[in-house]
Amino acid sequence: MKTGIIYFSLTGNTEKVAQRIGEKLEAEGKEVEKIALCEEKNHSFLGNALRALFRIKGKIKETTFNPKDYETFFFGTPVWAGSPAPALLNYLERCQGLQGKEVCLFVTYGSGLGKGRAIRILERIIEKKGGRVTQKLAVQEKMVAKETLVWK
Ligand SMILES: Cc1cc2nc3c(=O)[nH]c(=O)nc-3n(C[C@H](O)[C@H](O)[C@H](O)COP(=O)(O)O)c2cc1C
Repeated sequence: MKTGIIYFSLTGNTEKVAQRIGEKLEAEGKEVEKIALCEEKNHSFLGNALRALFRIKGKIKETTFNPKDYETFFFGTPVWAGSPAPALLNYLERCQGLQGKEVCLFVTYGSGLGKGRAIRILERIIEKKGGRVTQKLAVQEKMVAKETLVWK
């Protein structure tokens, strides 16, 4: 069974953390598949912040991802306006394979404002879908390449 790392990253920070998580899991002998979510349209900073704040789920390009293939899930997103990015919310809304599965969450952030809120929003969605959030990680943008990944 594989581990799926599903994330959205606009400017590359969350991508770097996803990469590091993947390398660590592979070093432990796990089979890992990374899925980068892409939005269909580009939006302004303000547009992105407002869409995130009001949970307007951005349209994402289709992925070939089949959740049933994964034993463990890692979901990653930047914190936008104290919320997860719309692309990940869109994905989670359609994701059907989380029942009984272990889920780890990771976010990257700037100032840190609203990072706890963003994680809580994700936790609630995943728990509603029957997933078990077992680990959480929040990494500040300037530390993405350096910080030891300490899960909580
Ligand atoms: C639209 C927008 C809203 C943001 N809102 C927050 C916020 O509420 N709190 C915070 O700590 N950082 C905020 N940030 C900073 C990002 O969370 C941070 O730069 C993140 O690492 C970007 O990840 P990425 O490079 O994977 O896209 C925001 C950035 C953008 C573009």
